[in-house]
Parts: sequence; C-alpha cells; structure tokens
Amino acid sequence: SVAVLDFGGQYAHLIARRVRELNFYSVLVPYDVTLDEFLQASPLAVIFSGGPASIYVEGSPKPRREVFEYIINNRMPLLGICYGHQLIASMLGGRVARKDKAEYGLSVLRVLTGDPIFHGTPASQRVWMSHRDAVVWLPEELEVIASTDYSEVAAFRHKTLPVYGVQFHPEVRHTEYGRVILDNFLRRVAGLKPNWFVEDVAAEVISDLRRRLSGKALVAVSGGVDSLTAAVMVQRAIGSDNIYVVHVNTGLLRESESDRTLKTLEKLGFKNVFYVDASRLFLERLRGVTDPEEKRRIIAKTFAEVFAEKALELNRKVGGFKYLVQGTIYPDRVESGATGKATARIKSHHNVVMEAIPGLEIVEPLSEFYKDEVRKIARSLGIPDEIVTQHPFPGPGLAVRIVGEVTEEKLRILRKATRIVEEEFRKSGFYERVWQAFPALLSIRTVGVKGDERSYEYALALRVVESEDAMTASFAKLPWEFLEHVAERLVNEVEGVNRVLYDITHKPPATIEFE
Ligand code: XMP
Repeated sequence: SVAVLDFGGQYAHLIARRVRELNFYSVLVPYDVTLDEFLQASPLAVIFSGGPASIYVEGSPKPRREVFEYIINNRMPLLGICYGHQLIASMLGGRVARKDKAEYGLSVLRVLTGDPIFHGTPASQRVWMSHRDAVVWLPEELEVIASTDYSEVAAFRHKTLPVYGVQFHPEVRHTEYGRVILDNFLRRVAGLKPNWFVEDVAAEVISDLRRRLSGKALVAVSGGVDSLTAAVMVQRAIGSDNIYVVHVNTGLLRESESDRTLKTLEKLGFKNVFYVDASRLFLERLRGVTDPEEKRRIIAKTFAEVFAEKALELNRKVGGFKYLVQGTIYPDRVESGATGKATARIKSHHNVVMEAIPGLEIVEPLSEFYKDEVRKIARSLGIPDEIVTQHPFPGPGLAVRIVGEVTEEKLRILRKATRIVEEEFRKSGFYERVWQAFPALLSIRTVGVKGDERSYEYALALRVVESEDAMTASFAKLPWEFLEHVAERLVNEVEGVNRVLYDITHKPPATIEFE
C-alpha cells in the first residue's frame, strides 16, 4: 500500500483518496504508528500529510524515530506535503522558521530542474499554498527543485534517496498539476504500477464474504447509496433468501423516497423486504420540539426502537440471524486527525439491535472504501444511476432542514420544494457539479403579494454548496437566471411559500445543513 501518515491536516483523507484515484491502494495511518503497525500496512511508499502544528513547538506531532529510520535506512520512497515537507527537512537537519507573512491560496511555482516528479508539467504552474512556517535552510544532502516568489524551498529532493518534500498541496484540485505530480511520485520515483481497481477489489470483498458467511443477515436500508450497496454485496455473497431488508419510513424522507427504495430493492432481486411506516410515531415524538440536538436525539432513538422491534419480530418468526450489515465507509471508520485512532464504531441504532438479538456479528462490506469508490461499486452492481449520483442526505432527513418544530404542514411544503429543486438541478446539469443543493424551511413567515392579495407565508432558503468532503464548503456562485427560475417555480408551485432566499455563507462558519 501507499501509507499516508496523518499529521492532522484536513487534507490527509484527501491525499489517500487521490492516490486511490490514480489506482494505487492507500491507507491512512496515525502519525505515531509503531513500526509493527506500520509494517502491517505493507507500505511500498510513504506520504507525510500536512497538519496544523508547528514542527519546532514542543510536543508537535512527529513520527516515531524507529519508523522514520526504517523508511530512510530502507530507501523507501517518501513524500512530505506541507507540514510533512517541513518535518522531513527538519528531521534530516534542515531549518524551519515562522515567516512574518502567510502564503495562502494560489501561487506560481517555478520548477528549477527536470526532476521526474515534475515530469510532463510546465516550468511555471499554479499551486495551492497554505502555510506560515517555511523551510528556510537545507542541509547538504537536500536540494531545492522548485520555488515561488514567497517560498524559496517550495519543493526539495534528496540527492541520493527517493525522498521529496513539497510545500504546496498536490492533493487539492486548485493545484493545476497536482494529480500529475502525485502520479509521478508513485510511478516514476517509487516505481509502482497502478494495480488497484475498485470494482475488482469489491468483487474480492464479495468472494471473501461468500467464504466467510453462512446464515441469515439483517440490514436496514434507508434509500441512500451506502446501505443499499452494502446490502447488495451481502446479497451477492449469501443469496437473496438469506438477507432480510428493513426499510423504515420516518416520515422525514423526500417525496416518493420510500416507494423508490422498495421498487429498487425489488428490481435488485431482494426477496425478504419489510417496510415499516413509522411516520406517525416520529411526528408525534417531534411535536413541540425545537432544539436541534433534541430533535436529532429523538430521531435516532425512535429509529433504533423501530428497527429493533422489527428485528425482534423477524427473529421470532424466521430466526437464525447471525449478521447485521452496516454501511460504514472508510472515513467513518478511520477518524482523521493527529489523535485519531482507527476505531470500528457501531452505529447507535445497531447497538439496540445487538442487544435485542444477542450473538449478531457486524458485517461492513464497505469499510475500506471512500464515498466516490462506493459510487463506482454501486454502479457496477447495477444500482440505478438516480441513487448512485444522489447528493448526500442526512440521517435525520428533512427534520434538519426545517428550522425549529417539525410539523406535517412544513414537511409537505419542504417535500414539494425539494422535489422541484432536485428536478431543476438535474435538468440544468448543475446537480452533478455541486456537492449538495436543497431548500430549507425557515420557520418564519413574511409578507408578500400573490395576485392582488397580501400573503403571509413561509420563507425558503436555498442552500447550494461546493465541497470535496463536507468538512469545508463554499456556496455555489450560480447564474442569476437559473436561480431566478428555481425561485419562480418554488413560489408558484409550492403552496405556503412566498419568498426564497439564497444562502451565501461558506462552511465554516455556517454548516451545510441548517440544524
Ligand atoms: P454539516 O451540516 O455538518 O453537514 O455541514 C456535513 C455533511 O454531513 C451531512 N449530514 C449528515 N449525514 N447524518 C448523516 O448521515 C446526519 O445526522 C447528518 N448531518 C449532516 C450533510 O448533509 C453534509 O453532507
């Protein structure tokens, strides 16, 4: 694998994803991994990620000496990015200092040598920078291979080892040739052959499940791509007779979402599908509740209860359940951050089921994959495109897009508005170009005029963001004409709405969802 040591940068997962996009297997490991754990990842090349710390500050994250020495003594290919770049320079005897000004955003990189890491890229190229500390002096064995106006040591290489550092972020899309530079490091410096293709790996996971599992499995399918893909993988492994699918309608789903999910399950050949309509129960429990955290707690608890009750009933009637399938994906399992440790987390609603049916084993067919990889797998398993390309939809559903109390009327309005927004985004092609696009219902009414009459109705906020991983996001700067058209449809077609606002805040400080 390509081992990405995580020094706490928000970009560590992004580096691992990019490496996989280039068809090399990568894993994220904590920066202070022991040599044993490090070797268990069978690393063929190593990348040190960025991070928020300053390397000269006492207690800042450093790899264990035994790991660093192993890498150097075995001439392993090593690339440091940002903090990782400074760390390698400093561990090999260079000097890192804080500059009086930060270099943030796009910079022009001047490539000074014909090094293989810059193969196929021009002498002058745009790179994304985000640093204040900088490498200010290099020892004899290291040499500068690229500079910017601001950073003399924007990239260095070791004179005799396959060791490199880049101050800029090749994993970020704004870096024009970032992808090429990473690919050059892996192919040309490390000499690796691209051999990791997600559909093949998924097929291996399925054969492995086929060998390992015998007995019945239970799965809750929401309508999202993760749980459905996990269910199909297990179905392929143990057969449609042995997998029992439960779909809970919380009443907080989008228009026709339950219908679509049930039809899709049928088309995919699932035989044991159980639909539970719990929308009344959810609505009752949410009545009068306005606190966002309280709303989330109630929804999670109610979901767990409803699912566990169905599971118990099935276990009484059919029996023989041995597995509980969970759609956990790689980033859920590996917490990023310098203190993050790999932990398998059981979702809270599954804990309740585990208590109800003792002896169940958790099965997570997607625990090695990123979201974009899950989408590829889903497509290869015949899951309809409409579901595969779907934007993320939060677990608590429309409830976090209604500010304040959830009522039947507000749900009706938001469901219809959501359908219109999705239609317009799909039709215009903007759907694929943004991370998420949805209306939220602000529980305020404002005055308007409809026809000749004064109206006093709800305001909707349109939230459209661009993002790589939902950790940060920027609002999408869409053409006025398009927004105008969407707003017109909303006020004309959705009864109870007379005003549409466009949300122009980034995350941070705002979140993507409203609650
Ligand atoms: P925020 O609102 O925190 O959202 O900026 C970040 C991303 O996570 C999604 N989201 C959720 N997903 N359960 C989920 O499965 C949740 O409770 C939840 N809350 C937010 C949100 O849609 C966005 O993509």
